Amino acid sequence: MAGGCASTHKKIIEVIPHEFTFPQGFLWGSATSAHQVEGNNTNNDWWEWEQTLAAKERSGLADDEWNRFEADFKLAQELGHTALRFSIEWSRIEPQEGQWDTKALDHYAQVISSLRSKGIEPIVTLNHFTLPLWLARQGGWYSDKTPLLFARYAEKVTQTLGNHVHYWMTLNEPSVYVYKGYLVGEWPPQEKSPKKAVKVFKNLLLGHVLAYEKIKEVYIQRDWKEPMVGIAQNVLIFRACSDTTLRDRIAARFRHWMFNHLFVQALVRGRAYCIGVFNIHLPRAKTLDFIGLNYYTRDFVRNNGFGFPEILGQPCKETAGKHKHGEDNALSWEIYPKGLYTLLKDFSRYKLPLLVSENGIATNDDSERARFIVEHLNATAKAMKEGAPVIGYLYWSLLDNYEWVEGFSSRFGLIAVNYKTQERTIRESARKYEKIIRSGKLYF
Ligand code: FCB
Repeated sequence: MAGGCASTHKKIIEVIPHEFTFPQGFLWGSATSAHQVEGNNTNNDWWEWEQTLAAKERSGLADDEWNRFEADFKLAQELGHTALRFSIEWSRIEPQEGQWDTKALDHYAQVISSLRSKGIEPIVTLNHFTLPLWLARQGGWYSDKTPLLFARYAEKVTQTLGNHVHYWMTLNEPSVYVYKGYLVGEWPPQEKSPKKAVKVFKNLLLGHVLAYEKIKEVYIQRDWKEPMVGIAQNVLIFRACSDTTLRDRIAARFRHWMFNHLFVQALVRGRAYCIGVFNIHLPRAKTLDFIGLNYYTRDFVRNNGFGFPEILGQPCKETAGKHKHGEDNALSWEIYPKGLYTLLKDFSRYKLPLLVSENGIATNDDSERARFIVEHLNATAKAMKEGAPVIGYLYWSLLDNYEWVEGFSSRFGLIAVNYKTQERTIRESARKYEKIIRSGKLYF
């Protein structure tokens, strides 16, 4: 008899799901970036680089978002979004050094006012990978002038648009930028120089600090409500290719520190130090009001030596398969929702608000996208339940778009884009996401 009671009790417990209610004001939405959606960004370094890649796709008209933002924001509104992260294209605002294009500034003023009129909070990124050509020709982030020029650009944009913006993100994924552009040479300017990489890293840190100060100054001068300024930090879970090999475990730990934490830690502390490699002092500490986290996947790394950059290890594809429990997305990135939980908990250590500023899947099977969103929101909810200070979740991306070296084949969008006709189609996964947004609840 007692045994019977116990098993009924167990069954009841099993069917009662955990309910989680997201707080009022949680930022629900998606993210885009200028070069990936606007089209015809002919005056930046990526565009120039695309023209030299015979076999790869060029961004061309992309989503023609420059002309179609109004209709797309209506769709975002219809989908219940309350926030949209987008970026401003520096090469449009300052087409030549020191020359400001007021039409381009007006354009972004309209973008912001269109969002606001639909109850969508604009989250503005100032630099999402691309640089104006004139600046790239001077050495881009390798030049010591660039942090100052970036701060001047940030000041100009803030003066013009700041009255209607509360959330700013200075830089997108600085560690990825340094790694791809200056260490492995996959992205422009295709350098493979650890020495240059360290300098670029330092200049990006400085660029953020100077821009942060300028943005804050403008708000004080104009007596506007103090804004929140942060960055979008890429984060991955790193695991050793061989768990039993200490060298691999060291590589995974080091990569975790360098890729995930170093930039944020440096801004919080005002200093970055790595024995024998760099000792960077910033003009001030505590220049983050929130931390944006872009999370996609888990990587496996193997030891590659103990100098720099060998200490970062090397991704291993061969043995990685053995460890994976999940599926891969269309770009062979492992789908690993638990990683988002782990990283949100991990980044709670900074005691700053956290925003999931990108999280998404490239897939041709939209049911996978719906599952991906639910599982990652579950991971977010679980971290929040345990105290992670998460203020929002932005799916990457609102629309299918130009995925850098991968071109147009990877479909990340909540909204499908037909690149021949520019026709938009809302995907089922977007509807599923909408339901969660509107109820503000999850059951897991
Ligand atoms: C992130 C980038 C974003 C997009 C996604 C898939 O690393 O910030 O522009 O390419 O990956």
